[in-house]
Amino acid sequence: MKSVNITATFTIYDGIGELPEPAQNLMEQAVLARENAYAPYSNFSVGAAILLDNDKIILGNNQENAAYPSGLCAERVAIYSAAANFPNVGIKALAITATSKTKDLDTPVAPCGSCRQAIAEYEVKQKAPIPIYFMGKIGKVAKSDSLKDLLPLAFDKTFL
Ligand code: THU
Repeated sequence: MKSVNITATFTIYDGIGELPEPAQNLMEQAVLARENAYAPYSNFSVGAAILLDNDKIILGNNQENAAYPSGLCAERVAIYSAAANFPNVGIKALAITATSKTKDLDTPVAPCGSCRQAIAEYEVKQKAPIPIYFMGKIGKVAKSDSLKDLLPLAFDKTFL
């Protein structure tokens, strides 16, 4: 028997202004995407922006539905759109931002488990890490260098 210790490292930036330029622009695009979220049930709006290897930016936001489970998170709207339209283009980075109508989100909001699993699929597919920047409405921005830091022990195709 032995214990295994898994560690994850994140970079914390004081705000959008401290991000390196490509990430700053990407987060600003995520903010724009967030403003178009359709979230009448949760009043929780999320925006996601993906920078592709061809330098195109793909946006996504959460899309809710009166049949609640039929809705989809911003990250998956964005990553499935990227994969559908640019199936052979890698992902350079992902930026995520979230706001709530009921509270001021001033700490980084990490992607949900289902979105982590979806992002993991494309990280494995492209055989290169996907840096992920995430924040609330204002304040600090967290960065993980790879999805692996957000989802250790991920299930992937190697098990199939
Ligand atoms: N949501 C996202 O868009 N991304 C996440 O990672 C977490 C949750 C959305 C789903 C739903 O529309 C709302 O936020 C509240 O859960």
